[in-house]
Amino acid sequence: MGFPQHRPRRLRTTPAMRRLAAETDLAPRHLVLPMFVKEGATEPVPIASMPGVVQHTRDSLRKAAVEAVAAGVGGLMLFGVPETHDATGSAGIDPDGVLNVALRDVRAEVGDATVLMADTCLDEFTDHGHCGVLDAQGRVDNDATLDRYVQLALAQVEAGAHMLGPSGMMDGQVGAIRAALDSAGHTDIGILAYTAKYASAFFGPFRQAVESQLTGDRMTYQQDFRNAGDALRELALDLEEGADMVMVKPAMSYLDIVRTFADSADVPVAAYQVSGEYAMVEAAAANGWIERDRAIVETVTSIRRAGADIVLTYWATELANRLDHAQ
Ligand code: PBG
Repeated sequence: MGFPQHRPRRLRTTPAMRRLAAETDLAPRHLVLPMFVKEGATEPVPIASMPGVVQHTRDSLRKAAVEAVAAGVGGLMLFGVPETHDATGSAGIDPDGVLNVALRDVRAEVGDATVLMADTCLDEFTDHGHCGVLDAQGRVDNDATLDRYVQLALAQVEAGAHMLGPSGMMDGQVGAIRAALDSAGHTDIGILAYTAKYASAFFGPFRQAVESQLTGDRMTYQQDFRNAGDALRELALDLEEGADMVMVKPAMSYLDIVRTFADSADVPVAAYQVSGEYAMVEAAAANGWIERDRAIVETVTSIRRAGADIVLTYWATELANRLDHAQ
């Protein structure tokens, strides 16, 4: 008489029961830490919009990389903040440029103990802040940009990157970089393609982190957030061009895209929990409006549940230290 036969609550009765029934794992190896290094810095510089994240000095970067590796993170993704900018982003290609120097430092420090990745993009290095070089009309010139990406890629690999992260959303970027790596004999160097990258308001704090020079927007190359089909097309192209892993970015507003990629790609899928996602949680927690530690685990786990094998997150070291290393 009125007893429910089916009781999903049975699997929620004790912590041990919930642990046994849990579908999604989160382990240190799933996490990649994005890091910033600032040329000429003598002290780490806090980033106001990303409490807890800094622009590193060469020394503090090395130390933070060692801590991340000790915590068991799966990888590191390095971004450079140069002192000088120009129209074609020369500081990114210069072997003595801040990002290449930092890659050399970190590789010397941690060797092959983690996967060292570099942002293969021009926006940190250009004086106009765009991810590519501009044509005479001031538009981002796709094919001229590919030539620069190839030079960036080769400089980063020579500096010690295990894997490259082309994030500029130029058409053909994966293919151009793959071909250049192969002809230079770098056949073992992988490409983590920023496959579905949306023109997003959630990149706001990052622009402060890299002291972006951008005044306009990136809507002619990053994707329109109204579109999902576009992401599938980008996925097909990146896989055909030789992407070793594919990424969706940002993560939280695009979990449907993460799921679609997980269901249709036969390579690892990454998702980038971006600066604005980080800032929202930190800001709400600082106001006492949400429980910080629970919110961090919940957001990152939800990205895994949506199908991401790998999550790039600014909480990677902290979170890895809270998780079981054995997984
Ligand atoms: C471009 C790049 C951006 C981010 C990573 N790579 C910024 C952009 O496209 O404007 C954003 C990362 C974040 O917001 O955490 N090189």
